Amino acid sequence: MAPQTGPEPGLQGRHILFGVTGSIAAFKAAGWIRSLAREEARVTVVMTRAAKQFISPLTLGALSGNRVHGDMFDHHPERIMAHITLSREADCVLIAPATAQTIARLAHGMADDLLSATVLAADRPVVICPAMNTNMLHHPATRDNLERLRGFGYTVIAPACGTLACGDKGAGRLPEWDLVRETLLALFTEQDLAGRRILITAGPTREPLDPVRYLSNRSSGRMGYALARTARRRGAEVTLVVGPVHLDDPPGVEMVRVTTAVEMENAVGTLAERMDIIVGAAAVADYRPAVCQERKIKKTEAASRCIELESNPDIMAGLGGRRRPGQLLVGFAAESHDHEAEGRRKLVEKNLHLVVINDILGSRTGFDVETNQVTLLTGDDVRRLPLLSKEATADRIWDRVVELLRS
Ligand code: PMT
Repeated sequence: MAPQTGPEPGLQGRHILFGVTGSIAAFKAAGWIRSLAREEARVTVVMTRAAKQFISPLTLGALSGNRVHGDMFDHHPERIMAHITLSREADCVLIAPATAQTIARLAHGMADDLLSATVLAADRPVVICPAMNTNMLHHPATRDNLERLRGFGYTVIAPACGTLACGDKGAGRLPEWDLVRETLLALFTEQDLAGRRILITAGPTREPLDPVRYLSNRSSGRMGYALARTARRRGAEVTLVVGPVHLDDPPGVEMVRVTTAVEMENAVGTLAERMDIIVGAAAVADYRPAVCQERKIKKTEAASRCIELESNPDIMAGLGGRRRPGQLLVGFAAESHDHEAEGRRKLVEKNLHLVVINDILGSRTGFDVETNQVTLLTGDDVRRLPLLSKEATADRIWDRVVELLRS
């Protein structure tokens, strides 16, 4: 069931002018257009003549749900000034794949086809996804042209590396859709965390007992990943220190992988000093087995069935004890009872600025679910949020952080 309240961060209702040019990667545009349409973005496709050699306008029209444009000299009365109308209607322009030819045209202000004329007329953000053979990409002419486009204020997404359609290996592939989608979302998001360095911990820790067994918990990492993704979208430089999880890396986020609480503490310790904001969304094990057996413990062994435990470091409390002036610390509190009192205790004991309290007994809140319902607690304020997706919850947490930074 979908979360009950709150706007979802997404591209719904945004009007994307989607330029497709003549590259073998044009087939990937079909999947991207489908993803946009599914998200209820409005997509208008403009194809160059060469693009139609690679993919049919019928396909892109059907997937976008809109007529595909391509002809500069359409005599239909409503489409005579198509480049002007299209450029005014769109919220942004995305060109994917962008060939060396189209990039050269745009870099030199050419307006000899509908796509280049529309881009020239557009005073909207333009995102370019180059895709071509590695040598073409690295040719000084293409490099200069891309530099010129950046100089115009266009966003150029660096092509991915891998095996190209021609068989060569190197840079030149279209990037992953996730990265392009995040780039588009950032265009429509206030960059109120720009210039902030943020460290987020996420996921569980694993405390080994022998080579095959460990103590851990049900944290999926989703809450921490949602915080990382949304902070990046709002302009922050984000580092995610993460225990063992099975999630795709958020684009543009520096990843540091750890397993145990001690490893997490060490990783956080080396990074903390230069961070403006630190958020502890990880479910760090409070205890670890006092001894990790080198060999698998056998069922037949007469050893005691008790596991002796010793305490793990409390990472957030450690940071709270030595936080530098101006550094903002946000902790989570995973609670089953006395939520607010427990949250307040952690706020004070760990010397934090904000505690995000989540109920771990609700079927749609806390561990290993897509949604969360949290209370934001500071020294002088308590705000209960509704049930939201973890991404929407993360955005509301950042709203509060921005308020705290401004005050
Ligand atoms: O990963 P998901 O499936 O999306 O689930 C999200 C979550 C429920 C794990 C997350 O929202 C959450 O509540 N994380 C904190 C879980 C937790 O360990 O809570 P706590 O009340 O025990 O700890 C309080 C704070 O101290 C937390 O910021 C925690 O990261 C930190 N802590 C705890 C123990 C420890 N040894 N070191 C710590 O730094």
